[in-house]
Amino acid sequence: MKCKKCGGVAVIGMRQHRLALCAEHFVEWFVSYTQRAIEKYRMFGTDDQLLVAVSGGKDSLALWDVLSQLGYRADGMYIGLGIGGDDGYSAASQLKAEAFAEARGLTLHVVDVKQTYGQSIPELARRTRRGLKPCALCGLVKRHIMNRVAYEGGYDAIATGHNLDDEAAILMQNALHWQTGYLARQAPVLPSVGQRSLTEPRLARKVKPFVRLYERETAAYAIVRGIDYIYDECPHAEGSKTIFYKKLLNQLESRSPGAKLSFYLSFLKVKREGLLAVREKALELHDCQNCGQPTTAPELCAFCRLWEQRE
Ligand code: AMP
Ligand code: FES
Ligand code: ZN
Ligand code: ZN
Repeated sequence: MKCKKCGGVAVIGMRQHRLALCAEHFVEWFVSYTQRAIEKYRMFGTDDQLLVAVSGGKDSLALWDVLSQLGYRADGMYIGLGIGGDDGYSAASQLKAEAFAEARGLTLHVVDVKQTYGQSIPELARRTRRGLKPCALCGLVKRHIMNRVAYEGGYDAIATGHNLDDEAAILMQNALHWQTGYLARQAPVLPSVGQRSLTEPRLARKVKPFVRLYERETAAYAIVRGIDYIYDECPHAEGSKTIFYKKLLNQLESRSPGAKLSFYLSFLKVKREGLLAVREKALELHDCQNCGQPTTAPELCAFCRLWEQRE
């Protein structure tokens, strides 16, 4: 395989783009493809202060790397979920995120769930009345903390490392059940909500600059750039539906290159054309009585209710 640009040895072939590139030209392409997504979906500009949610994995560290290269003002945020004990999954991912930030002189906010709220995610999961699985709580807790840190730090947008494989798997899950509310809200950019004033949104805008990039491409980028990341997935996610849908989509992709990308991009297109126009009920938001974040619940938001349920 030869690089389409220079004829050198290609490190990756991307059949959906009919493109093979050497290490140097792949990095160049990857960075500019991300910049084009940022512009196309009007994610943010150079004046915006960004908060990158970093898990210590390849996607979010690659994202932080690209945003810094592109000259955006981007700080990081790591949320310590307490999975796997003192030297388990969470502790190991935190070390990767911290080492990345330190080597590049970047600012990383660290919020440890147990230190801040009293219990780790697995402990909280065991003690909730409904006996929820850790992963079910983890999303809710991460969203809440990200919003809090963004609000307190005055950040304009929260950037996450979701890639095309993540988005296509979520889309498949939502489409299989025709969950129109979720489908209507699934997008590369989620606008901020619950504005106190126009200049002070309570829930920051969420952006996903890697939505058009395959997982194998973000992994290749991290490796080529020498980024040291955690290979393991969350141990609680084993056997999850998302992983199953990702495998199915990869089977489809190997038979029909580009199928994954087309599935997602066509979804965005039909949405733009109004084919999936869902008249969402105007959400009535008010401030949570405990933490102040906007919520549709009458008194406490879902996050605060979670901690109230403990025995
Ligand atoms: P996941 O849901 O694990 O696929 O993660 C999706 C995105 O959420 C990642 O790319 C990160 O941007 C963010 N994220 C996941 N876990 C954490 C964490 N512990 N701390 C901060 N951000 C995270
Ligand atoms: Fe967070 Fe599993 S507990 S993803
Ligand atoms: Zn080349
Ligand atoms: Zn609350």
